[in-house]
Parts: sequence; structure tokens; C-alpha cells
Amino acid sequence: YMNAGPARLPQWMVTLDYCRELGVPIEVFTNTNADAYLYNESSGMTKPVRYRTAKADVYGYVSELLAKATDKGALDKELTATDQEKLVEFLKDFGELGDKLTYGGGERRGYTTVPAAAGTPGVLLGDIPSASEVFASGVGRYFSFEFGFDQAMLMFQPVGGMDRIPRALTREIGAHRVRTGAAVSKITDKGNGVTVTYTQGGRTKSIDADYCIGALPPNILARIPHNLGSGVQSALEAITPQSAAKIGLEYRSRWWELDHGIYGGITETDQDVTHIWHPSYGFHGERGVLIGYYNYGGDADSYAKLTPEEREKRAVAAGVKIYGEKYRSELASSFSHHWRQTPHLEAAWHDTPGGPDDARYKPLNEPTGRVYFAGDWLSYTDAWQHGAFTSARKAVTTLHARVLSA
Ligand code: PHE
Repeated sequence: YMNAGPARLPQWMVTLDYCRELGVPIEVFTNTNADAYLYNESSGMTKPVRYRTAKADVYGYVSELLAKATDKGALDKELTATDQEKLVEFLKDFGELGDKLTYGGGERRGYTTVPAAAGTPGVLLGDIPSASEVFASGVGRYFSFEFGFDQAMLMFQPVGGMDRIPRALTREIGAHRVRTGAAVSKITDKGNGVTVTYTQGGRTKSIDADYCIGALPPNILARIPHNLGSGVQSALEAITPQSAAKIGLEYRSRWWELDHGIYGGITETDQDVTHIWHPSYGFHGERGVLIGYYNYGGDADSYAKLTPEEREKRAVAAGVKIYGEKYRSELASSFSHHWRQTPHLEAAWHDTPGGPDDARYKPLNEPTGRVYFAGDWLSYTDAWQHGAFTSARKAVTTLHARVLSA
């Protein structure tokens, strides 16, 4: 399987609490891998470099330069002599510097022959680039991703696919309480209740309730007739849909494990595929599914315009530059998905200018008559299920208090 949408869960998000409570098994999502590749075509790289090699070189040279600058007294105003000693001690370790405070490669970069039995001490990867070459390649720009509060390892995924979560929620809530295939066409606050009109199977129906929580995407809500006022309408229109896309590439063999020794993780590139994901499950299996592109904005839109066959062709051509011919020859099938093209969603996530607490969204954060709103687009973690869950809890908690006090 591939997760065309949400795919990774940090440890601090409430989504994991729901997995625990609902009995949805989880496993590690490999968000970083020292053996995955970096490839910047536009800065003249002719072959990919492993993360571990790029990190050794960037950290090595940055450490060397800072250590030398410190040694020359460039930091005398900022640091005491003891501070400077401690800083250099750290840099020597962090950058694997030699006695003269120079970086000259080392085992962190990797080997061409790995260390093994007596007689095989290993052969270090040669061709250590100069500091100038390392900075020119731009590989360092990818390192801070893994420091992010929402992206740092360990990350998790539900075993078997992200839809295990909504399936488990539906089971616990009771499937009879969930109406699918129902496209909302009108929301009317009647003062003493709410009527929601919808079409299902070609027929127009309506449902009356005491209250309504609108959890549709704002771009869809903005097109649905309602009587909630212009404040609600202009707030909905201020929030704009964003693009993201993925292609799953199914392979006949796990050549990335067999030939490249890559088990999970993400390869980063400046080509328009942006991110290539190695699967975090099914290791050593026969087949496997790579995410051949996970991109956003203009890159996603440019793939959206193509036919599925053309998308596959373009994504594979990019991958071949990094991984070689098997990226093409071992391909069995592909599936690509573009959220702007998905009916009833028409967005991957949203941009909420000014953040969800900006004054213009007040009519969405507070009930309008008997109608409430909820969604990740009304949270500080948009593009995460955590945002949707916490926003829903806020709406339900407010509603609960209102009903108790009524
Ligand atoms: N949650 C999505 C992801 O992890 C979208 C996202 C990307 C959100 C990057 C924030 C930062 O891919």
C-alpha cells in the first residue's frame, strides 16, 4: 500500500493516543536514514551522495572553520578563554577534526569496502571534496528538517495504512451513525436547530439536528449556500487550498535494499519530485512501493496537469538519475494522487493567513448560532491529523458546556 495522504505521526501528537485507545497497531516511520541519498542537480552534482557522507563533510568543514576562527581570536569578544577551549573541544568531536583542527574525512563518511574479518580493515570512501565543493553542492540545506518539532525521529505510522485510524473510529462510533457519499448542498441555522441538505445517490435529502459542526474543508464550505452571515463567508474565503501530490511506484524487487543497502528513509533532491520515500514496512519482502514524488505547490500542480502515464515517466526519469536503471526496469505499476483534483476535498491542506487566532477567523472559532466549525485549518498544526483532532475536541467541548448550561 501507499499512504497517498497523511503518512507520519510524531510521538507528541494526539493521533498516537487515538491509535492506542482504538487498538490500531503502529510501527516506526523512517523519516531519516543515514544511507539515503541527497542529489542536487542544479548545483552540478553528477551523482548522489549519502546523507552520512554529506553530514560528515558539512559538519567537518563547518567545525574546522569555526575552530580555526576561534583559534585566531575571532571570538575573543564573545567568549572567555575557557569557553573557547570548550567550544573547540566540542568542534573537534562534532566535526571529527585532526590535531591541527583540520577536517580530513574519516569513517563517518562511509566505506567502499566495509570493515569485516581480520585482514579486512575496510577501505574508506575516497575523493574527499574540498570545503568549497561541499558548500557549493548545497547538501547541507536538508539537515535541519530532522530538527523540526513535528518531523524529528522517532516518527510512526499505523500498520497496514493510515485508513486504519478512520476505520477504527467508525467502528467505535458505530458505522450506522456515519453517512458516507453525502454531498452537503446547504446549511441553514433555524434558530432552534440546524438543517443540513445533502445529495446522496442522486437524491436530495436533509437532516435536522440541534447543532451542527462543519468539518468540511473551508474551500468547499465557502461554496455551500448558508445563512451564517458574511463574517463566516469572508473568513472561509480567506483560507486558501494548497497543493501536494504523491506517486507510488511499485517494484518487482527491493533493489534499494539489495543494491543500495537502503532500508527506509527519504532521499532529497532539487528535482521536481522533491522527496523520494523508501517504504517503512515489508523489509526483505519480494516487492515494495516507493513514493516516487512527494511534492507541494507548483511542483505538485505541474504533475497534476499530466496523465498518469506521463507522471510516471517524468518521476522515473528523475529517479534514474539518482538510483540508476533499475528505477525504470524493475517498475511494475504506479498510482499517482493529486489532492486538488480530489472531489469534496480539492486541497491537500490550507493556508490560514495570520494563523487560526487572527481576528478575521473569529466567526469560525466561535459558534454562529448553532453552527460550529472544526478542522486542522483552524489549528496551529494544519496538515496534521493532530490539528483536526484537537480542533474537533475544542468544538465538542464548547458545545458540551453550552448544552450543560442550557
Ligand atoms: N504533515 C505533512 C507531512 O508531514 C505536511 C507537512 C509537511 C506539514 C511539512 C508540515 C511540514 O508531510
